[in-house]
Amino acid sequence: MFWDAIAQEYDPNLDNSQQRKLLLDHLRGALEGLEIGSVTDVGSGTGAVVKELFDKKTRITAIEPSLQMMSLLKNNLRGYNYEPIYAFAEIAEYAYSDLLLFSLSINWLSDPTLVLTRSLVPGPKYVLIARQKVSHRSNLGAGSAHRAQIQSAYKVVDEKQILFNANYALLHERKEGMPRLDGSLSADTLITRLYSKQVS
Ligand SMILES: C[S@@+](CC[C@H](N)C(=O)[O-])C[C@H]1O[C@@H](n2cnc3c(N)ncnc32)[C@H](O)[C@@H]1O
Repeated sequence: MFWDAIAQEYDPNLDNSQQRKLLLDHLRGALEGLEIGSVTDVGSGTGAVVKELFDKKTRITAIEPSLQMMSLLKNNLRGYNYEPIYAFAEIAEYAYSDLLLFSLSINWLSDPTLVLTRSLVPGPKYVLIARQKVSHRSNLGAGSAHRAQIQSAYKVVDEKQILFNANYALLHERKEGMPRLDGSLSADTLITRLYSKQVS
């Protein structure tokens, strides 16, 4: 699998990069002020991002189908309260978490709509999706192939908004003050969507 082949270079390439820093700033901005005791990180990769975002008390469920990525993740998350699930998210079984996180992973799913449909019942309090807007300059190969599918995945969350309205107000917002990626970055633009469900 592609991710097995590049796993060893993933963190060394990104750890000190501007791209990783901006991604983390962006995600931290979105999560600020939210109370999150548990997170399901879909396509967790090496776990480096979720490790930076949460402390050792947060219960982390890390879903990752690449064995090589998973082995690095176990190393990175040593000492953290985490459960590794070595599986494709389309078929993985996982418990409820307050937050469902997709950090640069939704593009890579074979069926993002299915993953969201399955994950939203009974439903996390928050869904945070960060992805790169793919342009003709994309260097991400297969990750750029799912534009239409991603739109339909977003729609799934939007439709749940109506479904959950009886008990919940589902807010879709881009928080004020969230840092934006520097437009000059060759890796295109980062789009982050935060959905939060609050008892009305
Ligand atoms: C670009 S990396 C993102 C890793 C990490 N979330 C980050 O922000 O650095 C994409 C990850 O998605 C994983 N992935 C690909 N297909 C997947 C699937 N069907 N279910 C879950 N994860 C998947 C890959 O193995 C890879 O680790």
